[in-house]
Amino acid sequence: MTDATPTRIAVIGSGPAGFYAAGHLLKGPDSEFEVDMFERLPTPWGLVRSGVAPDHPKIKSVTRIYEKTAAHPRFRYFGNVTFGLHVSREELLRHYHAIVYATGSPSDRPLGIPGEDLPGSHAATEFVGWYNGHPDHTDLEVDLLSAERAVVIGNGNVAIDVARMLVLAPQELAPTDTADHALEVLGASRVKEVVVVGRRGPAQAAFTNPELLELGELADADVIVDEAELERGLAVHDEQAEQDATARRNVEILRTYAQREPAGHPKRIVLRFLLSPTALVAGENGHLSAVELVRNELVPGASGLRAQATGEQETIDAGLVFRAIGYRGIPLPRVPFDDRSGVIPNDGGRVTDAESGDTLAGEYVVGWIKRGPSGVIGTNKKDAQETVDAILTDLAAMNGDAAARHSPEQPDAEAVEALLRERQPELVTYQGWEAIDRHERALGEAAGRPRVKVTSIEEMLRLAADEQP
Ligand SMILES: Cc1cc2nc3c(=O)[nH]c(=O)nc-3n(C[C@H](O)[C@H](O)[C@H](O)COP(=O)(O)OP(=O)(O)OC[C@H]3O[C@@H](n4cnc5c(N)ncnc54)[C@H](O)[C@@H]3O)c2cc1C
Ligand SMILES: NC(=O)c1ccc[n+]([C@@H]2O[C@H](COP(=O)([O-])OP(=O)(O)OC[C@H]3O[C@@H](n4cnc5c(N)ncnc54)[C@H](OP(=O)(O)O)[C@@H]3O)[C@@H](O)[C@H]2O)c1
Repeated sequence: MTDATPTRIAVIGSGPAGFYAAGHLLKGPDSEFEVDMFERLPTPWGLVRSGVAPDHPKIKSVTRIYEKTAAHPRFRYFGNVTFGLHVSREELLRHYHAIVYATGSPSDRPLGIPGEDLPGSHAATEFVGWYNGHPDHTDLEVDLLSAERAVVIGNGNVAIDVARMLVLAPQELAPTDTADHALEVLGASRVKEVVVVGRRGPAQAAFTNPELLELGELADADVIVDEAELERGLAVHDEQAEQDATARRNVEILRTYAQREPAGHPKRIVLRFLLSPTALVAGENGHLSAVELVRNELVPGASGLRAQATGEQETIDAGLVFRAIGYRGIPLPRVPFDDRSGVIPNDGGRVTDAESGDTLAGEYVVGWIKRGPSGVIGTNKKDAQETVDAILTDLAAMNGDAAARHSPEQPDAEAVEALLRERQPELVTYQGWEAIDRHERALGEAAGRPRVKVTSIEEMLRLAADEQP
């Protein structure tokens, strides 16, 4: 890396993984990297903007770290540019020494049961995107007027976010950056009860402790846990959970909920265990009206206890279902993809050929599209370090094993920008994003909210165009 020409890296995706990778690459006075980041939306930050719940503003402040990376003189942001549509893998390999894929897991895992697509049944991915103002989901129709009970399938933190958002009190919602279209619908909601359903027991739930505790502190909702069901779920000893401090604390919290007298709030969140949905059922109007479930028992499996159906059935009447059983990666054009796990196959961040397993020189991966859709924001920092270390090792190996390094034909910053502007005249630079950001914050300040989100791409482009060169 002592060449006069800088080493040029393209990062695809501007979520935590992409920004941590960029930050690691640009760190230190000796860095000779130039980083260009490509993002399909005009706006950066991935799920920090469009996933993290609006009533958790402190978590969103992690973007201050990413802003520092973006201010680096050798960093450029190309928003509103979709990899595979505006620019291809081969074109980027021509212009960059390495590509780092950081595209996350934007899709949902299907339940695979009848009725899954009935009106009233929503993937958490789309509901979360809707309340957070993701432009892909602004048109989602969420009918919170026709049903008093909603069922949330899944026992992870996304299930908790969805349940909480459905019962927040007006005074809890008002000071958030929830998209205006969602504020209106949530404010008029008639949903009184949200039943959160886990297929395994309380000790196997994927909740984290602060999120579970927060459910017990809501202004308008009681949290209800049936003691007998809780203890039934704990009857089979789970050595793995016993060794896990988070799981042990979750069980303690759930036991306090089971013993607590409801405060008589107008809404309730009911936590249920050992139940798997088997069908979503339509009423006469064709709209979802009930969830059929089967009771499970816990039996030893390959990786801990697994749920096994008993013959016992249960039906919960509900006009809404939110499927929060995990996100899923989608393939990028001409990039290897492992369809079973929904990730780009890789060896410690080096992209590998899906069939031969051979490493592809110059291609790397980071974040959820590397390891699957789990882990909090901070997990991506360590993960990005592993990928950046692989890049540094491969570049250092250049003097010995040239095969480990990819040599671009035209590593020229201006040539890339010219190509992109030709393909996407409505490209949004970082300055363009800053104009959108200022506008959102100014509207927010006037309303006592962190920001009022712009949710239409058209409006984002107009705001950006006014300010960017
Ligand atoms: C609902 C929800 C709430 C969460 N809340 C928290 C929380 O409170 N605290 C916490 O620590 N963690 C939270 N997490 C986890 C955290 O958001 C993830 O760990 C993290 O966002 C994963 O980072 P990523 O960069 O891999 O993916 P993402 O954040 O999804 O970023 C991927 C980026 O790539 C872009 N992209 C995709 N395809 C293309 C393409 N073809 N071309 C160009 N760009 C593309 C996307 O638009 C996106 O901006 C939450 C996750 C979810 C789903
Ligand atoms: N506040 C926060 O910090 C926050 C907020 C949101 C998300 N996140 C993080 O983001 C990541 C993703 O969260 P997530 O909730 O999407 O995923 P998750 O933590 O993996 O939870 C998924 C849940 O879905 C269940 N599930 C999977 N398949 C199922 C099926 N077919 N039927 C019934 N249940 C099924 C799983 O049960 P099994 O265990 O039985 O498989 C699990 O309870 C996590 O790391 C999470 O911590 C963090």
